[in-house]
Amino acid sequence: MKWHVLRPLWVAIGIVGSILIARVFLVPDDFGIHGRNFTYGFHRLSNIQEWKDFQVKYQGREYCVECHDEKVQMLNQSPHEPVECENCHGPAVNHPDEIEMLPIDRTREHCLRCHAQLNYPHSARDQAPGINNRMHSRRRDCVECHVPHDPREYKE
Ligand code: HEC
Ligand code: HEC
Ligand code: HEC
Ligand code: HEC
Repeated sequence: MKWHVLRPLWVAIGIVGSILIARVFLVPDDFGIHGRNFTYGFHRLSNIQEWKDFQVKYQGREYCVECHDEKVQMLNQSPHEPVECENCHGPAVNHPDEIEMLPIDRTREHCLRCHAQLNYPHSARDQAPGINNRMHSRRRDCVECHVPHDPREYKE
């Protein structure tokens, strides 16, 4: 065969060869077929344990019952029932053991995330009632009048 044919052939063989060699070093030992719970059963066995050990950040409101029982009851019976505690207070992982207090955001912006009036048709129209930020008591924080855990209630 002519050189100009052989040379690219050697290059191709070289590339395939080095990929095969690299694979021996790079693919972890426990990668292989382990049961049929993934596509074709191919996965790294230790990956299952890694995901089991993964720390979940959001605990859900059931977690709060133990210590903030009245808050959970109040929320569950209010129009804010669909809103999770941690949507407003942030993830509760390691609270109260390492993080003694969860943050409290009393700004208007915090409520307007969901209650800003949208002047176009949108699917959530009936869900979080929108208010006009510039008309609705614009100089005061919402929580001066509305109780966040039961927004039907008004403060003085
Ligand atoms: C094991 C008990 C415990 C659990 C469970 C718990 N908390 Fe707390 N939380 C506390 C304690 C203790 C404090 C310290 C302040 C206090 O005495 O209220 C606190 C403080 C807070 C504060 C700040 C209060 C303030 O006055 O600044 C918020 C907000 C809060 N928790 C929300 C939550 C939410 C939301 C959950 C569930 C996702 C939760 N907590 C789960 C015990 C708990
Ligand atoms: C819509 C947002 C929102 C949700 C949902 C929410 N909170 Fe709050 N939370 C606030 C705000 C704002 C304050 C501060 C209220 C104030 O100062 O009048 C607060 C205050 C608190 C406090 C401080 C003490 C107090 O008596 O005010 C605790 C504890 C707390 N929330 C726990 C919870 C728990 C537990 C849940 C879920 C059951 C929850 N929150 C759900 C916004 C929220
Ligand atoms: C994550 C989204 C979300 C956030 C943040 C939020 N809300 Fe709401 N809010 C809702 C939804 C959804 C409803 C309507 C639920 C329904 O009617 O079924 C609602 C309802 C209300 C209502 C009407 C209650 C009634 O009379 O029916 C008021 C008032 C209100 N929220 C005030 C607040 C205030 C004040 C804050 C900030 C502390 C706040 N919301 C933060 C989602 C949110
Ligand atoms: C000065 C007190 C006051 C402040 C501050 C205030 N509100 Fe209100 N809000 C009211 C009163 C009173 C009503 C009921 C009468 C009405 O609809 O105007 C109301 C009604 C609402 C409603 C129900 C509207 C509907 O169509 O059902 C929502 C939602 C609401 N407020 C959200 C907010 C949010 C979000 C903030 C902060 C950005 C806020 N409010 C600030 C007093 C206040």
